[in-house]
Amino acid sequence: MKNILVTGGAGFIGSNFVHYLLAQHEACRVVVYDKLTYAGNLDNLRPAQDNPRYAFVRGDICRREDVAAAVRAHNIDTIVNFAAETHVDRSIMDPDAFIQTSVYGTYTLLEVAREFGLERYHQISTDEVYGHVPAGHSSKESDPLIPRSPYAASKASADLLVNAYHVTYGLPTTITRGSNNIGPYQYPEKAVPLFATNAIDRLPLPVYGDGRQMREYQYVGDHCEAIDLVLRRGQVGETYNVGTGVEVENLAMIDILLDTLDRPLSLIRHVTDRPGHDRRYSLDIGKITALGWEPAHTPEEAIALTARWYRDNEWWWRKIKSGEFQQYYEAQYGERLRTAAPLN
Ligand code: NAD
Ligand code: DAU
Repeated sequence: MKNILVTGGAGFIGSNFVHYLLAQHEACRVVVYDKLTYAGNLDNLRPAQDNPRYAFVRGDICRREDVAAAVRAHNIDTIVNFAAETHVDRSIMDPDAFIQTSVYGTYTLLEVAREFGLERYHQISTDEVYGHVPAGHSSKESDPLIPRSPYAASKASADLLVNAYHVTYGLPTTITRGSNNIGPYQYPEKAVPLFATNAIDRLPLPVYGDGRQMREYQYVGDHCEAIDLVLRRGQVGETYNVGTGVEVENLAMIDILLDTLDRPLSLIRHVTDRPGHDRRYSLDIGKITALGWEPAHTPEEAIALTARWYRDNEWWWRKIKSGEFQQYYEAQYGERLRTAAPLN
């Protein structure tokens, strides 16, 4: 029996990973350790709540004694760390919690992993650590880290700590760097769920700048499968990119989304761009495909599936959008939308 501590497991990708593990591996117990910030949501874990192989602990990864108590109580052998502040725009408004959780929190988890001699510490990282990628190049795992937002810098710092613990203390670590995930349970501040839920309500879609920025939108279930593969077959001390190899412009993503939801392009509003906006990410995924993984969904399928999930699960997102979210939305978009240009 494996006992896996999934930190940040009440968030978007973490909760999908919990459901994936419970469904795929009978011989696996999963303990979620999560602070339940604005992005953490126990609704995401509802399908697991009666499973005898699942447990939940509320806690902050920055609190070493609390993490150690959870590891001890549940006889944990593996930590998979999803816990982070994850929205680039919020990191521009107030970076503090980003640095606390991704830098100090990752350090705390690494110390606990070392103290208990865990079998594996796995860090969930991001393609944003490579920074903007010029046309014609795809980032390899060995490329320099040139993060350009406080969020990306906090994630790159965490990766450096993880590698230092492997080299210095021999801690058995692995890292995966994923591209933009989409799918069920993503907090509607991120572009795809924000645009899907706005479109359902026939509200404007605030598109940054010209909307021709490039992302590798991937289905969250595919990402979960890749993380699981790296846990089982990845080389200790190594990093693996996880993307699709297919670049999608934001306007193309919106096209698929609006078509799926049967809404007009006239909902698009071009608003003032995000400061320091990385125009293009592109991952070389040769290393993970050599391990035996490839994405099961095309980006088009992933976007359409996600749009339909939001259409069919209003119970999940309406209560989020009616809470704290409204103040955030006004601060982030109020002025920008009032001075925005419609698509012409
Ligand atoms: P999310 O914002 O949906 O969830 C983050 C979770 O972490 C929440 O449940 C929150 O309560 C928890 N958390 C935050 N601070 C914590 C703390 N101090 N202690 C314990 N729990 C804490 O995030 P997500 O989109 O699911 O991203 C998960 C991970 O994957 C992050 O590390 C992110 O950097 C990385 N990532 C995300 C994407 C993406 O497209 N969303 C892509 C690549 C990598
Ligand atoms: O690339 C992986 C990263 O993807 C993760 O590490 C981050 O946690 C995750 O938030 C995501 O970052 P992005 O900044 O790429 O995602 P976001 O959904 O915020 O934006 C996607 C694209 O859409 C980006 O080019 C900015 C643009 N955008 C976003 C929002 C929120 C808009 O045009 N309008 C918006 O309102």
